[in-house]
Amino acid sequence: MGRSKISIIGGGFVGSTCAQGLLNKDLGDIVLLDLEEDMVQGRALDLLQSCALTASNIQVNGTGNYKNIQDSDIVVITAGQARRPGMSRDELQNINAKIVIQVCEQIKKQAPKSCVIVVTNPLDVMTYVAWKTLAFPSDRVIGMAGVLDSARFKTFVAQELNVSVQDVQAFVLGGHGDTMVLLPRLCHVGGIPLPELLSEENIDSLVERAKKGGAEIVSLLKTSSAYYAPAWSVVEMAEAILKDQKRVLPCSTLLKGEYGVKDLFMGVLCLLGAKGVEKIMEFSMSAEEKNQFQNSVLAVEKQVRQIKTLFD
Ligand code: NAI
Ligand code: 2OP
Repeated sequence: MGRSKISIIGGGFVGSTCAQGLLNKDLGDIVLLDLEEDMVQGRALDLLQSCALTASNIQVNGTGNYKNIQDSDIVVITAGQARRPGMSRDELQNINAKIVIQVCEQIKKQAPKSCVIVVTNPLDVMTYVAWKTLAFPSDRVIGMAGVLDSARFKTFVAQELNVSVQDVQAFVLGGHGDTMVLLPRLCHVGGIPLPELLSEENIDSLVERAKKGGAEIVSLLKTSSAYYAPAWSVVEMAEAILKDQKRVLPCSTLLKGEYGVKDLFMGVLCLLGAKGVEKIMEFSMSAEEKNQFQNSVLAVEKQVRQIKTLFD
C-alpha cells in the first residue's frame, strides 16, 4: 500500500496543530494550504524539521496552490474566520459559508475521491454547505464536533471522580452549539453507568460545563478559540478512516430519515472506516432525549435555512 496523503485547508491554530498530530502518528504525508502563503510555508517547514526529532518519515508541504492537494485521501477544512466583537452569528455564518464554498470547489476539482472532514464553524451548517458544493456521496463528507464535545465531557467526569479518562466512555449528539445533547445514562466509567456514581445535580453541572466547553476556553484565551483538543479530535477521525478501524464515533453526518430527520447534518453515532461514514448507529432514545435532540434539530435547521439561498 502507498503512503496516505492528508491535506489541510487553513493553516491556522487548528490546521497546524492537526498537522502536528497527524505527523506524530505517522499517518501520511501532509499538505497545509492557506491564503497566507508565507505563513503556511513557514509552519510547514517548522513541522517538517520536527520530524527529525520525532523520527517521523513524513513530508510536510506548505502551499497556497490547490494543485498540491491532488489525490489526497483526506482533506480537512479548517479555513474560516472566528467571530469578532460586534459580529453576529449570522454574519459569521455567511462569511464562512462563502469560504467553504470556494474551498470545496477546489477540492472537487483536485481531490474528487477524498474523504472530507469539516471543522469550520458553525459546524453542522458548514458541513452541509461543503456537501452541497462538493456533490460527493454523503458518507465522504463528515463534520467534526462530537468527538471534541465528548472529550470535554469525559475530561470533566474523570476529574470529578479522580479516575483515568481512558476509563470514561461518553458521547455527545446533536448540533455543535448550545443545544448539543449529552446522554449521562450512556456514559460509563469502567463499565458502571454514570448515574450510579454521581448525583443528578452533580451530573447536570458537568453536562452544563461540557456544553459551554468551547466558550470557557475562548473567554480565557481571548484572541482565539480552542485548538489542541479540536485538532486531536480530527486526528482520531482521520486515523479511523485511513486505517479502516471501524470506530464508533459521534460525527456530524447527513441524516436520511434516521431519528425522523432528513436532509440535515447532525451529530449522531457513526461507524467510521475506509469509506468514511459506513453506517449510522441508531439507538432508542427516551422521550426526554428525543425532545432534546429535536430541539437541536430545529436550531440547526434554522441556521441551514438562512444559507440555503446560496444554493437555490
Ligand atoms: P485560525 O484563524 O487560526 O485559522 C483559520 C485559517 O484559515 C487562517 O490561517 C486563514 O488565513 C485561513 N483562511 C481563511 N480563509 C481561507 C481561504 N479562503 N482559503 C484558505 N485558507 C483560508 O482559526 P482556527 O482557530 O484554526 O479555527 C478554524 C475554524 O475552526 C474556525 O471556524 C473555528 O470556529 C473552527 N473550530 C471548530 C471546532 C469544532 O468543534 N468543529 C473546534 C475549533 C475550531
Ligand atoms: C469549540 O467548541 C470553537 O467550536 C469551537 O471550541
